[in-house]
Amino acid sequence: MKVVVLGAAGGIGQALSLLLKTQLPAGTELSLYDVAPVVPGVAVDLSHIPTDVKVKGFGKDDLATALTGADIVLIPAGVPRKPGMDRSDLFNINAGIVKNLVDAIADNCPDACTCIITNPVNTTVAIAAEALKAKGVYNKNKLFGVTTLDVIRSETFVAELHGLNAANVHVPVIGGHSGTTILPLLSQVEGVSFTDEQVASLTTRIQNAGTEVVEAKAGGGSATLSMGHAAARFCLSLVSAMKGDNVVEYTYVQVDSDDAAFFAHPVRLGVNGVEEILPYGELSAFEQKAKEDMLEGLRGDIKIGVEFVNG
Ligand code: 2OP
Repeated sequence: MKVVVLGAAGGIGQALSLLLKTQLPAGTELSLYDVAPVVPGVAVDLSHIPTDVKVKGFGKDDLATALTGADIVLIPAGVPRKPGMDRSDLFNINAGIVKNLVDAIADNCPDACTCIITNPVNTTVAIAAEALKAKGVYNKNKLFGVTTLDVIRSETFVAELHGLNAANVHVPVIGGHSGTTILPLLSQVEGVSFTDEQVASLTTRIQNAGTEVVEAKAGGGSATLSMGHAAARFCLSLVSAMKGDNVVEYTYVQVDSDDAAFFAHPVRLGVNGVEEILPYGELSAFEQKAKEDMLEGLRGDIKIGVEFVNG
């Protein structure tokens, strides 16, 4: 199996690459690409860790070689938010970066599973889909927006609130990956109940958790370590699934529903990417209203991505 990280020298990319070097199954090839000249050094640095994962670094002229033969491509490349910015403020720079990288995926490893981390994810996934369609290689079962960070934040915050071990807490999160489009389904958390006030404040905290990090880093970027962990968890799930294990993750994928063209659902992963998009179950009145209120925004985010590629 070959896993590629595009943007491997950045904050998320380095954390993610470290976790993959130490956790991918023996025999996996890990290919690190970045336009930053430090990338061969990041690869050499990681290569001294004694695991049976072979790391190679590729600079800006070697994107095709980095991608050839890939089974999974993770894209954290792009610029992060600064305080006061919304994820959509990154669109002007990151849209073009994602489009170029996905064009190269289409040309060099069209059968790979592509996992988008670059913000605004609600939009960049739509850009990736349209770019792949334009090249005639789009497979909706192999394109993912990584929303695992919303899931792990929810698990952490619920565990903190109730004094539980976060490892035993599971919180479904549906929708998108920005502000109110992030919809944790607290009504479905097993064995835990919340007051209405707790639901309202916890939902807001989960939706603003990325901003919490951006403000705490005070101009130094957005979440990199927790995002690296989240993306590694998603990648490792995908690797297990591609080897035949039964794995379910929440992820932002193309859906056939009235919600929006892309929507984070529980998804059964398998050898070919998405095996089955599972229903997200019954929503509480609070969740139903939150979903209805955010759909128009999410659909707008997706439309911007479609129009970026198709003009
Ligand atoms: C976050 O939620 C970086 O979008 C990422 O913090």
